[in-house]
Amino acid sequence: MKVTKLIIPVAGLGTRFLPITKAVPKAMMPILQKPVLQYLLEDALRSGIQDVYIVLNHDQELIRDYFTHKPNLEEKIKKEGKIKTIETLNYVIDHLNIHYIYQDEPLGTGHAILLAKEYIGKEPFMIMYGDSFFLGKYPITLELQKAYTQFECNIIGASEVELQEVNKYGMLLLDEDDEDRILGIVEKPALRETPSLLACNGTYILQPSIFKELEKIKQVSGEYLLTDALFRLMRKEEFYVGKTESVFYDIGNMNGYIKANQDAYKVLK
Ligand code: UTP
Repeated sequence: MKVTKLIIPVAGLGTRFLPITKAVPKAMMPILQKPVLQYLLEDALRSGIQDVYIVLNHDQELIRDYFTHKPNLEEKIKKEGKIKTIETLNYVIDHLNIHYIYQDEPLGTGHAILLAKEYIGKEPFMIMYGDSFFLGKYPITLELQKAYTQFECNIIGASEVELQEVNKYGMLLLDEDDEDRILGIVEKPALRETPSLLACNGTYILQPSIFKELEKIKQVSGEYLLTDALFRLMRKEEFYVGKTESVFYDIGNMNGYIKANQDAYKVLK
């Protein structure tokens, strides 16, 4: 069974990337000449996603504006015969149902996802963060779908990282007898204490039972975190890893953003 719904929370304040995030949401930062969010939606489309729920804040109308037809611009480009450019502009608008959900306050990733509960219903659904970028042979969303078809349970997307990087990520603890089965996540471990080299890359396919857990978690430093709900659900349900061959870039920090642009230039240009 294919997962057809995707939630992308983008409503965070992006404080690590100020001052540009005062005006430009992190998800709209360009990788070459396209915003990060467009890459995520293009990947989603290539893997059978039909409905996307973007959780945004009230200062991010730029996002809605971007994913809207611009008849004057399209007319002008058409006259110049640049049909390919129009296709790129309209690819996701024409093929995906994009829905917008407002998060009034930045109360955390868990809070943002919970806002989409009524739209998801009883189906499993995918999550991607609006500040992540992937470069690889296959869309990351397709790799997640593959893992879901194989394991039919909760899937956490993971990318292999260098040992020196493990202290930046949630690192997966895997079952010794079944190396795809997740037993836990160790948050930002010291290099010597990492349980594996597989880092959570902010992509998931989750069962709707996660919403019950999201309703129960407590605030930590003013935020409700998706990871706290994941830990609760892990005690009740199976979690398997969705390994990706793609390279993962956290564009929410300067190094990740610059590296993503440099690598994209080499690979996509
Ligand atoms: P981050 O914690 O990386 O984003 O959230 P942030 O809070 O915007 O970043 P900094 O630390 O202030 O620089 C991961 C994803 O979840 C979204 C963010 O927009 C990002 O895409 N998010 C985060 C929400 O949608 N709502 C929130 O309340 C928090």
